[in-house]
Amino acid sequence: MMIALNKPLTPDLVKLTSYLAQVNESGWYTNFGPLHEQLTKRLEAYLGVENLLLVSNGTLAIQVACKALNINSAITTPFSFVATTSSLLWQGIDTAFSDIDVSNYNLCPKKLDEALSQDESYDAIVATHVYGNPCDVKGITDIANKYNKKVIYDAAHAFGVKVDGQSVLNFGDASTLSFHATKLFHTVEGGAIIFKNKTNFEIAKQLINFGIQSDGALGSPGINAKLNEYQCAIGLTLLDDIEPVMKRRTLLFNLYVEELKAYVEMPKWHELATKNGAYMPIFIKDEKLQEKIIEALASENIQSRRYFTPSLDIAYNKQKSFGCESSHCISGGVLCLPLHAYITPSDVLKVTDVIKKIIQS
Ligand SMILES: Cc1ncc(COP(=O)(O)O)c(C=O)c1O
Repeated sequence: MMIALNKPLTPDLVKLTSYLAQVNESGWYTNFGPLHEQLTKRLEAYLGVENLLLVSNGTLAIQVACKALNINSAITTPFSFVATTSSLLWQGIDTAFSDIDVSNYNLCPKKLDEALSQDESYDAIVATHVYGNPCDVKGITDIANKYNKKVIYDAAHAFGVKVDGQSVLNFGDASTLSFHATKLFHTVEGGAIIFKNKTNFEIAKQLINFGIQSDGALGSPGINAKLNEYQCAIGLTLLDDIEPVMKRRTLLFNLYVEELKAYVEMPKWHELATKNGAYMPIFIKDEKLQEKIIEALASENIQSRRYFTPSLDIAYNKQKSFGCESSHCISGGVLCLPLHAYITPSDVLKVTDVIKKIIQS
């Protein structure tokens, strides 16, 4: 049997049907309906956040957060999923790249400081908590305060993660989540923005509804980025069981780490942060060895994938870069291994055995 890289969490049909029946009965299918309200409140309570706005995907979450915070230029990470950068460029935001920390693959505060000392003109810092591993949020806050910049965290991978006892989503002016089917928690397509400040939340709520104000008058031009009631039903169904799912995935993640730590490099996890088991990245510098491992896994029917590659400063090479050597190195060698709610510890051991054999050979 194939060991898949990822498998979406399947909603329990009995529970889902009861939520869907509520939608059918109410006849309220979208536009901030009762299930939307329930999911918002339950996510705020579960994640330990306020001012959470559900949106239709994680890409629009970044775009709407930027609009609400009036961001026209940003300095960002080259090592992330393409949407972190493409969402900015699509919106005409002047975007530049600053390098990552080679130890954890996240935007490096020291390099950010060097970049901003050369050019202070950017409105904001856009950083990703790559693979759910929190950025050095303290270091980035210090730099943001030093240069008076806004901060948006792309937290698409960081659902449920805490730093020093509090949600990672509470750092920065806004954090964005993706609820795409491949994510730990999902609504098939969907996402959320968590704002530090209620005023920005209110602005964004208007923006995702075409810019229509609460009194019906037209404000700044908006977009349609609302999450509908049927998708909220999926979210509510999955949220009931998300805690054991996250625990299970974290257990599998820890097993991978134990088995592989003597054989391959891995990103260093934030010392004060919890884990969520969203991804299992390993780093293999030697290209030929990496290729051999991918082939050996494939021959055992085990999926693996190289992401994130290419480094986004290379993909978008017309944008300014302050030098992204570490990102080039990491994006060349990173490989993600199967990790989802439906694999077993023995699946993990099968994967790690294949890798160990190749490395020892
Ligand atoms: C880091 C990151 N940012 C943004 C996104 C975009 O989210 P969505 O697919 O919900 O638009 C994703 C994943 O899809 C992601 O992994």
